[in-house]
Amino acid sequence: MMRLPGMVDVHVHLRVPGGEHKEDFRTGSAAALAGGVTTVLAMPNTHPPIVSRNDWNIAQEKAFSESLCDVFMYAGASAEHLDQLPALGEKAVALKLYMDQTYGPLRVEGLKALSDIARLWPKHKMLAVHAEGTSIAVGISLAAAYNRPVHFCHVSRKEEIELIAAAKQQGLPVTCEVTPHHLFLTSADAEHLGSLVDMRPTLAEQRDVDALWDHIETTIDCVATDHAPHTLDEKNAAQNPPPGVPGLESALPLMLTAASQGRLSYERVVDLMYTNPRKIFSLPEQPDTWIEVDPDAKYVFPDHPLYTKCGWSPFSDFPMQGKIRKVVFKGRDVVRDGEVLDYYS
Ligand code: NCD
Ligand code: ZN
Ligand code: ZN
Ligand code: ZN
Repeated sequence: MMRLPGMVDVHVHLRVPGGEHKEDFRTGSAAALAGGVTTVLAMPNTHPPIVSRNDWNIAQEKAFSESLCDVFMYAGASAEHLDQLPALGEKAVALKLYMDQTYGPLRVEGLKALSDIARLWPKHKMLAVHAEGTSIAVGISLAAAYNRPVHFCHVSRKEEIELIAAAKQQGLPVTCEVTPHHLFLTSADAEHLGSLVDMRPTLAEQRDVDALWDHIETTIDCVATDHAPHTLDEKNAAQNPPPGVPGLESALPLMLTAASQGRLSYERVVDLMYTNPRKIFSLPEQPDTWIEVDPDAKYVFPDHPLYTKCGWSPFSDFPMQGKIRKVVFKGRDVVRDGEVLDYYS
């Protein structure tokens, strides 16, 4: 048996408020625990989005009272709510800035708004950006010009990771995450999985996936799921199916499987899913919290009924190696062999 820390996922959509038919704090945090994740950072692209101090207070209070693991709420950057940034800067774990179109109403365009946000958000708190393609170059220039940390979400393309590597080599304060789906799936998988695996950024080519793996020991700071639950009915809709896939229950199993195959070390998995996320987002210590993993156990995913309310996974039927036997959260056993204890009682 292998003892590892409780993992940290810095990119999760828990859909509160407004999307509780997809996920809520209880179901999403149960999925986190079942996946060996004990700290979650929840995204603000809700309905309505979390862009004011009042929105944030309500969501964070609900998250504290309903979640089974630690959940910290992002605030969302909005050109119409710049006046809220100082108050949010004292409270929210980080600010999320959407530079490109994705699910939800938050997108900021134009140099004025982008510069204002990069200047006004406190430097000791992270500015996490959804930036694809040339937007990454804009994000790097904001980090450079205002000498402030910027974290790039779900980096997926060869040119993107290489640009971030070059920026890091210049000493610029940038960090980045990749998702398991961009590490383990390509656009070829979309041919059999169809609209289920429509997501932002879209699945990439093999050359992009290879480039991400080439940077797994160096440029990539975190593995984060971008757990983006939508119901199967929504995903299969003929008109505008929403982008995004769930990932909380499959992320650590996939990374443990890669470690069992020697694609990276178990130590590196811990760097990517615990040490670096905690450092980058200045997260508090979790006392008496750990997970136990059997690195030799093989199974076909999932090894338990899924806890995410959306009820599906793009990784169903994947052969995995490395089973989560137990999760201990703040001194209490909360998961045993895939079962979140006392969940239905
Ligand atoms: C996310 C969602 O559903 O909220 N969707 C996605 O495809 N990744 C939004 C996002 O992270 O861009
Ligand atoms: Zn408002
Ligand atoms: Zn995004
Ligand atoms: Zn996301």
